[in-house]
Amino acid sequence: MEAIAKAATMAPATVRGLPPGPRMPRAVQTAIWSRQAQWMLGQCRSRFGAMFTLRIAYEGTWVMVSDPDVVKQVFTGDSRVFHAGEGNQIFRPILGENSVLVLDEKPHIGQRRLLLPPFHGERMQGYGRTMAAIAAREIDSWPTGTPYKLRPRMQAITLEIILETVFGVHERDRMDPLREALRDFLDLTTDPRLLAPVVLVGPERIRGLPPFRRRIDRVDRLIHAEIAERRGAEDLAERDDVLSMLVAARHEDGSPMSDAEIRDELLTLLVAGHETTATALSWAIERLSRHPEKLERLRAEALAEGEDPYLTATIQETLRLRPVVVLVIRKLTEPVELGGYELPAGASVTPCIHLVHRNPDIYPEPDRFRPERFLETPPGTYTWIPFGGGVRRCLGAAFAQFEMAVVLKELVKRHQIEPANLKSERPFRRAITETPRHDTEVVLS
Ligand code: HEM
Repeated sequence: MEAIAKAATMAPATVRGLPPGPRMPRAVQTAIWSRQAQWMLGQCRSRFGAMFTLRIAYEGTWVMVSDPDVVKQVFTGDSRVFHAGEGNQIFRPILGENSVLVLDEKPHIGQRRLLLPPFHGERMQGYGRTMAAIAAREIDSWPTGTPYKLRPRMQAITLEIILETVFGVHERDRMDPLREALRDFLDLTTDPRLLAPVVLVGPERIRGLPPFRRRIDRVDRLIHAEIAERRGAEDLAERDDVLSMLVAARHEDGSPMSDAEIRDELLTLLVAGHETTATALSWAIERLSRHPEKLERLRAEALAEGEDPYLTATIQETLRLRPVVVLVIRKLTEPVELGGYELPAGASVTPCIHLVHRNPDIYPEPDRFRPERFLETPPGTYTWIPFGGGVRRCLGAAFAQFEMAVVLKELVKRHQIEPANLKSERPFRRAITETPRHDTEVVLS
């Protein structure tokens, strides 16, 4: 009797192993995932609850979590146990072994420490003028009165901003070849057709394939030339671009970053920061153009040139409803108790941005685009997670939101924006990001 009474007061027993999930073969799950990720997540959430298992080729086993308390446990968990770098190994052949994205534990903290200063919130004001000038120049060159795709235009803006603020390159004769080489390089990370060979030969051998080798070599040559030039620059201390700050940065033991480290981090910032921000901007316009009254409110606020709370709320709501990536990954180095399960080492826990953001208990009418909700309640650390969380939270989160604010303001101040087609654009998976299916087709006037 005593034993039974004791058992009744104890917490529910932990189940050893993985939570339930679809029983389809891995190949079928992978196929559905690559085409209909958000639909699949919604279906699994209804059928299995807040925690379920998916099996995806080349990713292993994903344990999806979406309860904010469990998400908090993952983001604040021991970084020796929750490995994000191991979950990002697909980037290693392209970004290099020093990339902050692919490292874990001490080496990760070491690189992150070096990268943080240029991305502090207050530094953004300094980049603001450059961002606004680039946005204004690009937007003024866009056509009016005819439908066209906005996403490539947004990509041009975000690439130009990275060239100037991160690489610190301003002169045309150096900028043009670098821009072209970087564009070509970026296709490696975003073109689904080019990613197919990664799946076929595996990420480790990909660098050896001629089309990859050629593109990476060309970028490397140009970047190493920039690093050499910057190391010799007399005005290094006055320069505020990220490359100059990395050249001046010191490891904890006082040693400078090597050329290889700087190269890997520059490409990491490019890959992590370019497509993502362009996609978020495209979604903002995709949503706003289908909600003219909200677009008008934003325009009125921008023209008033004062504080911009509605702009901030619009960016937050865009990233909630259309997060650029749907999940983040932490690979377990040892068994972990989470949400009532004892999960095995080797499994990946994946806080699901999409499901957290669509939870009606957190966000009433979750499918509606309503920036006002963030004027009423500010975003929570574990309920608004478009930038992930914990020691791996996006390094560029302040940079990206600042850039989005600057570009959106410049755009709505200049143009009326209408969708080319009133139907909402559905998300379309491009390698990692979820972009608007028709690349935000609009007509400006
Ligand atoms: C709207 C735009 C962006 C979105 C939605 C976004 C989202 C994310 C997410 C979800 C992660 C993974 C976080 C985790 O695992 O918990 C991440 C990591 C990262 N992001 Fe961003 N990002 C954006 C823009 C940028 C920009 C502009 C930069 C830099 C210029 C940047 C640099 C990075 C870096 C370096 C990491 C790796 C951090 C680490 O592993 O310690 N991101 N980002």
